[in-house]
Amino acid sequence: MQTAPPRTASPVYRTTYNYKVVRQFAIMAVVWAIVGMSVGLLLAAQLVWPELNPGLPWTSFGRLRPLHTNLVIFAFGGSALFATSYYVVQRTCQTRLFSDRLAAFTFWGWQAVIVAALVSLPLGYTTTKEYAELEWPINLLLAVVWVSYAVVFLMTLKRRTTSHIYVANWFYAAFILTVAVLHIVNNAALPVTPMTSISLYAGAVDAMVQWWYGHNAVGFFLTAGFLGMMYYFVPKQAERPIYSYRLSIVHFWALIMVYMWAGPHHLHYTALPSWAQSLGMVMSIILLVPSWGGMINGIMTLSGAWHKLRTDPILRFLVVALTFYGMATFEGPMMAIKTVNAFSHYTDWTIGHVHSGALGWVAMITFGSLYHMIPRLYGRTRMYSTPLITLHFWLALSGTLLYVIAMWANGVVQGLMWRAVNADGTLMYRFVDAVEASHPGYLVRLLGGMLFLAGTLVMAFNVYMTIKPQKALEAAPATRREARHEA
Ligand code: HEM
Ligand code: HEM
Repeated sequence: MQTAPPRTASPVYRTTYNYKVVRQFAIMAVVWAIVGMSVGLLLAAQLVWPELNPGLPWTSFGRLRPLHTNLVIFAFGGSALFATSYYVVQRTCQTRLFSDRLAAFTFWGWQAVIVAALVSLPLGYTTTKEYAELEWPINLLLAVVWVSYAVVFLMTLKRRTTSHIYVANWFYAAFILTVAVLHIVNNAALPVTPMTSISLYAGAVDAMVQWWYGHNAVGFFLTAGFLGMMYYFVPKQAERPIYSYRLSIVHFWALIMVYMWAGPHHLHYTALPSWAQSLGMVMSIILLVPSWGGMINGIMTLSGAWHKLRTDPILRFLVVALTFYGMATFEGPMMAIKTVNAFSHYTDWTIGHVHSGALGWVAMITFGSLYHMIPRLYGRTRMYSTPLITLHFWLALSGTLLYVIAMWANGVVQGLMWRAVNADGTLMYRFVDAVEASHPGYLVRLLGGMLFLAGTLVMAFNVYMTIKPQKALEAAPATRREARHEA
């Protein structure tokens, strides 16, 4: 454990940040992106050619789907959030992480949780709660790792040498604390065997707790954490101060106050009391305002620097991510309106919404942040190849557009076909007719997924070439000092 640093930011001290754990998480984010998206691609292919499931239980769609969501959200997104939060908190607080050992524990503990997911989900062990499928022994480990993460992050904030806490850290802190509460409450269960358990909640209460968790997993894991990234990396890459610091504070408080109440929009027309559904709908519509406040704050940061978009593909990733964030947070409140949800729920529209948020917002803001951060972590002035970043940008953008447009089209077709009735009140189409009509959309989504994954592979190559000649660098004075400090 480190002793508290002096409250001055001497240049020597600045070279002694703990970058080792940041590098480890950043590299694993790239690795897990490839693994998680490959599973997504296999799922997309299975929906085009069902024969691709060769009758083996562990390759079936039902088991691989939660594996995909766990890998992309927790392994890829989670590793990226650990990496960037540890980087941002050290740089904006001008101090080293609170404890190297505890930070290393969070890295190895998090990877152990992911490997346990990688094995247990295909074997069919699941709590059946979406985005909380992992069974109780893994959940316990996850809780310990997460609390350690909170300790490292918050104690680093406490030992800062700066006078105030930069807004990015507010978002990261809210994300870390809220996810701890969500995880512990939603996974309260009675263990029955070493790998099975029964939820402490039952019926509609269980469903409400689950979607309070589920929606706030979107709000805090997939949104607040990545907004932390946005508030640091957009101004840095644009070389401009954030458009409005005041707006960022209002945005922060409004967002975290409203998100908590929106969960019932996942349970429209269920056994949940009707007033709770309406409350969820109203709060979801209100949520548009703080969400757009954040998006506008990010985009307006480019005022006077728009010309940089012509030459800087990293900035393009960050700005396009914000644009998708704006689109997903406009679409979400619309889908939360009960009459719209009666149409969209169960259709591929939901999958389109999810991936406009997941690919357009979460993955793109991560790519931009990693491209900014990785050269600095390894003492480089820039990535190995800027044209390859540009190539990645176009592959990611075209992949996302093909994916979401195909799913939106499928969603509308499915919704209309399921509702169409003849004059005598009988259904106009059989269910299989809607499946057949969706087939072209599934092919286009597969193509979009291929482009997106190809872009990620281009990034992995670029990252590898950037960090490859590391040995020569480790001999440089600053890095030697850092190595001594870490030892
Ligand atoms: C190459 C990229 C990707 C492909 C091809 C892909 C494909 C898929 C497929 C086929 C499904 C199942 C859809 C269904 O059940 O009808 C799915 C679900 C899902 N994916 Fe992806 N995905 C990709 C990337 C991502 C990323 C990066 C994230 C998150 C950061 C993500 C998050 C999700 C979520 C949350 C679901 C569940 C949606 C729901 O239950 O409504 N995906 N994905
Ligand atoms: C103002 C913000 C947002 C609101 C009000 C909202 C609202 C909604 C609604 C109404 C649904 C469909 C629920 C259903 O029919 O079952 C949904 C699904 C979903 N949204 Fe959003 N959304 C927002 C932003 C986002 C963002 C930024 C992401 C990031 C990736 C996201 C990820 C998801 C996911 C993963 C699901 C699928 C949940 C499931 O498995 O059923 N949402 N959202």
